[in-house]
Amino acid sequence: MQILIINIKELLQVRETNVDKVSGAEMATLPSIKNAYLVIEDNLIKDFGSMEDCPQINPEKIIDAYEKIVLPTWCDSHTHIVYAGNREQEFVDRINGLSYEEIANRGGGILNSAKKLQASSEDDLYEQSKTRLEEVMQMGTGAVEIKSGYGLTVDDEIKMLRVIKRLKKDYPIAIKATFLGAHAFPLEFKNNHQGYIDLMINEMIPRIADEKLAEYIDVFCESGYFSIAESEQILEAGLKYGLIPKIHVNQFNAIGGVALGVKYQALSVDHLEVMNPEDIEVLKNSQTMPVALPSCSYFLSIPYTPAREMIKAGLPLALATDFNPGSTPSGNMNFVVATACIKMKMTPEEAINAATINGAYAMGISKTHGSITIGKKANIIITKPIPSFYQLPYAFGSNLIEQVIIEGKLIA
Ligand code: NIG
Ligand code: FE
Repeated sequence: MQILIINIKELLQVRETNVDKVSGAEMATLPSIKNAYLVIEDNLIKDFGSMEDCPQINPEKIIDAYEKIVLPTWCDSHTHIVYAGNREQEFVDRINGLSYEEIANRGGGILNSAKKLQASSEDDLYEQSKTRLEEVMQMGTGAVEIKSGYGLTVDDEIKMLRVIKRLKKDYPIAIKATFLGAHAFPLEFKNNHQGYIDLMINEMIPRIADEKLAEYIDVFCESGYFSIAESEQILEAGLKYGLIPKIHVNQFNAIGGVALGVKYQALSVDHLEVMNPEDIEVLKNSQTMPVALPSCSYFLSIPYTPAREMIKAGLPLALATDFNPGSTPSGNMNFVVATACIKMKMTPEEAINAATINGAYAMGISKTHGSITIGKKANIIITKPIPSFYQLPYAFGSNLIEQVIIEGKLIA
């Protein structure tokens, strides 16, 4: 099946030779072609260029993108979209003055979601999660990472990862699975941290590796959750089974999680709302992608990742949603891009690089996703008619997406 898109006002994120990520000052450049065409064949990008060079072909479908912008779909490298129920009550409790930490200390938070998830069947969980996956695809996400971490027992963590596996099978979107058993200590292990760590190391990780249920391993490395020494044990155990680290660090406190991630060659270190100069220093000369989650900062009213400082230091930066029931009940990457521009002072060019090619890197898929490059997956967003791509972050509350194509299939 061939699709030809013609008269594209501007084709964004065009990379003739693929790059795996963009860092520092390079992030300010978003290569593009004005008045362009794009050819899709089956699930891949076949060709693109200026309309003057548009080939004479007879495709099955022609899309006229006059006055419309075309760009690669978003690569959302950090989500928790497999969850049960919601935490609306905690949202209202926070409005009335409680903090996220106070709610967690009262047994709410992650443990509240774990209780709900443990009470749900795999089928029910699948149904709830697929609705969210379909929603994010319609909003322009074409690749997504999904974490476990609301199960917190052997069977319930496996249940979450099986749901992710089913989603992978049933949808055209690329999905990467991450084991996050180390999300919180279950109540019965409150005073026996080592007992839960041993359960993960001796039972969960071997079973997950055996069933090939995850490619990455995550830890919520934070005061009151997993200490550096505890995180280290878990990452080491995961690495023995080939699970690559992608970790939650520096959300509320900088306790050395960034250095830990770099030490274990984490693919990404995520959150980074609180950054010390040492954290920025240690990321230089590493292959670890820093990932900011601005809609989490927005929803919890916590600091935003210091993007300007990091980019000035020459670092790359990726943007993701963190879609989860507690700190970010939204999978809207357009909002993430807009919030990065508005609150973190990223330029639209930087934010789009961060949400496409750098997001792909943070999922280990920048060879196939994240840019308009011949041979990459045909994952594209076609906007409504708009004056320029600056509209995407500028009109932050509007849905400017008209069509989404994932692996050659028209989704929305
Ligand atoms: O990334 N910080 C840890 N995990 C999630 C929130 C989990 C929750 O509140 O359910 C996050 O923000
Ligand atoms: Fe998260």
